[in-house]
Amino acid sequence: MVNVVPVDLGDRSYEVRIGFGLIDTLGAELAPLLTRRKVAVVTDETVAAVHLMQLAKSLENAGIAMTALALPPGEATKGWPQFSRCVEWLLEQKIERRDVVVAFGGGVVGDLVGFAAAVLRRGVRFVQLPTTLLAQVDSSVGGKTGINTAQGKNLVGAFHQPSLVLADIGALDTLPPRDLRAGYGEVVKYGLLGDAGFFDWLEQNGAAVMAGDAAARLHAVTRSVQMKAAIVSRDETEEGERALLNLGHTFCHALEKATGYSDRLLHGEGVAIGCALAFALSQRLGLCSQEAPSRVRAHLKALGLKTDLSDIVGDLPDAEGLLRLMGQDKKVVDGRLRFILTRDIGQAFVAEDVPHDLVLALLTEALAGR
Ligand SMILES: NC(=O)c1ccc[n+]([C@@H]2O[C@H](COP(=O)([O-])OP(=O)(O)OC[C@H]3O[C@@H](n4cnc5c(N)ncnc54)[C@H](O)[C@@H]3O)[C@@H](O)[C@H]2O)c1
Repeated sequence: MVNVVPVDLGDRSYEVRIGFGLIDTLGAELAPLLTRRKVAVVTDETVAAVHLMQLAKSLENAGIAMTALALPPGEATKGWPQFSRCVEWLLEQKIERRDVVVAFGGGVVGDLVGFAAAVLRRGVRFVQLPTTLLAQVDSSVGGKTGINTAQGKNLVGAFHQPSLVLADIGALDTLPPRDLRAGYGEVVKYGLLGDAGFFDWLEQNGAAVMAGDAAARLHAVTRSVQMKAAIVSRDETEEGERALLNLGHTFCHALEKATGYSDRLLHGEGVAIGCALAFALSQRLGLCSQEAPSRVRAHLKALGLKTDLSDIVGDLPDAEGLLRLMGQDKKVVDGRLRFILTRDIGQAFVAEDVPHDLVLALLTEALAGR
């Protein structure tokens, strides 16, 4: 069974196809997009080791020639050195304007390769084949591409929509539990930002999603993608509503920077902690009930996700230091801190001018709990 979610963006519209066995049918899915039977696949070494043979076979069966590059795994890859390596490799492979590049991996590969496709010969088409839960529910959809720099996260990039997204749920079977949990942080985010019913469903079925139940995974990914696709279709370049997808991210990006984009904190883990903090901040501002933050934390904890600053191993900057790191986030407008806050589970909104001292107090207490 394949669920198809359209992303409606006029002449840049595309489909997200979600199901089992999609790596095996990649060749057939790609063929209609190709003007010549050759594709460049960019992946990372871990994904290459477990899934590249399967992908190569699928392309071979469809008579499509493949050339592949495997980058080192991990967030540190998402920077200038591996980006320029990727772009130059694509040029060496003589990838032309009408060719298609395949991004085969998690969000790191998807973001970097999407950006490479955006700038290569002023833009070539690319297809996302996400292999992590995070990439399937979030990063492969919506066309945000880019890399990190010394100044911060995702500060260089482009909006470049893929031509197709194929989320093969079966690929998740080889994903390490920690990465699965991190991806689940983004799944929960959708319930928290706009669908209380989905959050209820996750409370009932989240354990099955994590345990590998096929139907539960298919539903969780499909519902998440439906929500993202709908928001992106209405606000592609984040003039308004798309900002809601950043629930938890102002905190998350500061924490990722503080931990050096290392495996001390995975992006999805930071999102989970950030969501818990966003609910706590909302409650302090009198926006939501006391029960809402407790319920959020209880669910995240029940599934083994990080929820507190004390869940991050090693030193962190003090509250002032973390606040300064937030000031470098893209979501800062004219130096004012912009947060996604909530009135309840499923009711997020953009708050433009949150008082610094309140955030500082919250961070001070959160750090004291370490
Ligand atoms: N563009 C967007 O809209 C958007 C949205 C959310 C997150 N992101 C970005 O996504 C990135 C995080 O993505 P991620 O969590 O997928 O990390 P990732 O790409 O680093 O993948 C996590 C790890 O899992 C491994 N892996 C991937 N698929 C596997 C599989 N099927 N089996 C075994 N191992 C596998 C990878 O090699 C890596 O070690 C961050 O850089 C974040 O900023 C982007």
